[in-house]
Amino acid sequence: MDTPAIPFSRPAPSEAPAATPDTHLTPGLGRVAIVTGATGFIGGAVASRLRDRGWRVRGITRPGSRKSLPAGVERVEARLVADEVTAALGRANVDGTRETAEAARRHGARLVHVSSHAVAGPAPAERPSLENDPPNPITSYGVSKQQAEDVVRSATELRWTILRPSAVYGGGDRAFLPLFRLARLGLFPLIQDPRVQYTLVHVDDVARAVEVAATSESAVGEAFFVGHPAPVAVGEMMAALAGVFGRRYRPVTIPSGLIWAAAMLGQGLSRCGWPQPLDGKLWRDLRAGGFVCSVGKARRVLGFEAAINLAEGLARTARWYVEHRWVGPVSAGP
Ligand SMILES: NC(=O)c1ccc[n+]([C@@H]2O[C@H](COP(=O)([O-])OP(=O)(O)OC[C@H]3O[C@@H](n4cnc5c(N)ncnc54)[C@H](OP(=O)(O)O)[C@@H]3O)[C@@H](O)[C@H]2O)c1
Repeated sequence: MDTPAIPFSRPAPSEAPAATPDTHLTPGLGRVAIVTGATGFIGGAVASRLRDRGWRVRGITRPGSRKSLPAGVERVEARLVADEVTAALGRANVDGTRETAEAARRHGARLVHVSSHAVAGPAPAERPSLENDPPNPITSYGVSKQQAEDVVRSATELRWTILRPSAVYGGGDRAFLPLFRLARLGLFPLIQDPRVQYTLVHVDDVARAVEVAATSESAVGEAFFVGHPAPVAVGEMMAALAGVFGRRYRPVTIPSGLIWAAAMLGQGLSRCGWPQPLDGKLWRDLRAGGFVCSVGKARRVLGFEAAINLAEGLARTARWYVEHRWVGPVSAGP
């Protein structure tokens, strides 16, 4: 289940008056960030980064949640949306965003809303998506993220920024995890055309983008894609993964009928409460022919550019998985 990771910030009352322009503050110093989804992959990375940069960070968790927050992040229990409502697909994204935007408005806080590249829909590397292209989501997830963006854009008296990360990978992510597990074993199943390209981004770059957005005046009222500037072809990524685990890259093409059947099975299991990486949503994404976005606006307006390239990002991620025993130990050779 996804919910927006929505950090918002305001100057700590005793340390800075509300009118202090963001751009003149030392990053993080004396600032308070409230992070929703801080028990999750992206929210956890955002909370950790802000904490490391001197922010006072509070993580919103669902009442009664036992999931851990990054060390040094204060737990604040709050129900963003009723659990029975979140059971309905997409409502967590839309209603959770509405609640959070309203709370930010009431407190005069900046809102950085983490949306998704999924709002833009598929686009090839030859014609990457731009922020002002009409939204074209192809999954119910993308539609719910678009609706959540609409909630943010229509909020009055709120200083908001929308970030649309592309596919995010890094320590703590479960979506790419199966690929790492298989690569460690020297298995490289191709479940789509290896030439199809994606914009990817490492989670640490996303966390940095959130801080930049939260502290930049020029970010207010704007939406930005967040991704590494170099799109990656599927085959290129698999070959790079082979390198990370010291394996020979020998891809095996899986027939699309088999993938479809596995996706439908995954869809059924996900609906029964056992979320699967391969489900109906991923199936539609896989058939879409690639998701590439332009990251020029973030560079021009915010001076932000993702810095972690594929080789470095995959190596960092693999190290995290091995250290946290999500992936078994790496042997010396093939
Ligand atoms: N991962 C990606 O590649 C990617 C790409 C683009 C955008 N995004 C966006 O980034 C955000 C975070 O994604 P993620 O990958 O970090 O997801 P994640 O690891 O599944 O984390 C989701 C977080 O949201 C919390 N949450 C879920 N439903 C909630 C609800 N009804 N009320 C309150 N909290 C709720 C979860 O809390 P519990 O721990 O209690 O479940 C968890 O902390 C999402 O908005 C997603 O759309 C993700």
